[in-house]
Amino acid sequence: MSVRRLAPDEVQPASFAFTAENLAWATETMGKYPVERKASAVIPLLWRAQEQHAYWLPKAAIEYIADMLGMPYIRVFEVATFYTMFQLQPVGTKAHVQVCGTTPCMLRGAEDLIKICKSRIHHDQFHLSEDGAFSWEEVECAGACVNAPMIQVFSDTYEDLTPESFEKVLDAFARGEKPAPGPQNGRHGAEPAGGALTLHDLPFNAATPDGAAATDKPAAKKTPAKKAAPKTSAADQPSVKE
Ligand code: FES
Repeated sequence: MSVRRLAPDEVQPASFAFTAENLAWATETMGKYPVERKASAVIPLLWRAQEQHAYWLPKAAIEYIADMLGMPYIRVFEVATFYTMFQLQPVGTKAHVQVCGTTPCMLRGAEDLIKICKSRIHHDQFHLSEDGAFSWEEVECAGACVNAPMIQVFSDTYEDLTPESFEKVLDAFARGEKPAPGPQNGRHGAEPAGGALTLHDLPFNAATPDGAAATDKPAAKKTPAKKAAPKTSAADQPSVKE
């Protein structure tokens, strides 16, 4: 179990407040819950505060959310320190790289990705790179095992990585770009590499000679309307003998 503490006082801002846009969003979000249950909005509000504040939560933001929701500070601190999706220390301004190190990703090369993080960002996780642009951490399964190995940067995932494609993703962030998230090996979603392998016997999935799947779906067949059953009257029914 990792120890999760607030950032030291030297890096804590004196205050925090939502921007006008985020405040309007927060007010609308709280309105989705009964007034006496507005504390239910604590996670989305903390997440929005983190997005606004360079992807980490300062103490002032946690207390600001607690005041908005009428919650004791300790209850909001409990939430922020329990869920590892909330960053409590400053992270890289261009990318905080969360490398999945759980078994499927580990078997598919996560250790090589971690080596790159150590050499390019910092030897130890949760430390900023020299220019402050990058940081990294190893996380547990992020739910994209079928596209292992993968990383998450802020709200996006980058999957099917190799050391080479991972370096390219980092290069793009270093240039201030936002690389396209998703599989980095060209496959679509979680389909097999090279395209779908099943249901080719359906006319609209049959591969054309050049290997591309046909896209024209056959017109839906009309099903003949059922004939209405002839109406019978009570007089037509056989009488019941007692
Ligand atoms: S094990 Fe890495 S995403 Fe599930």
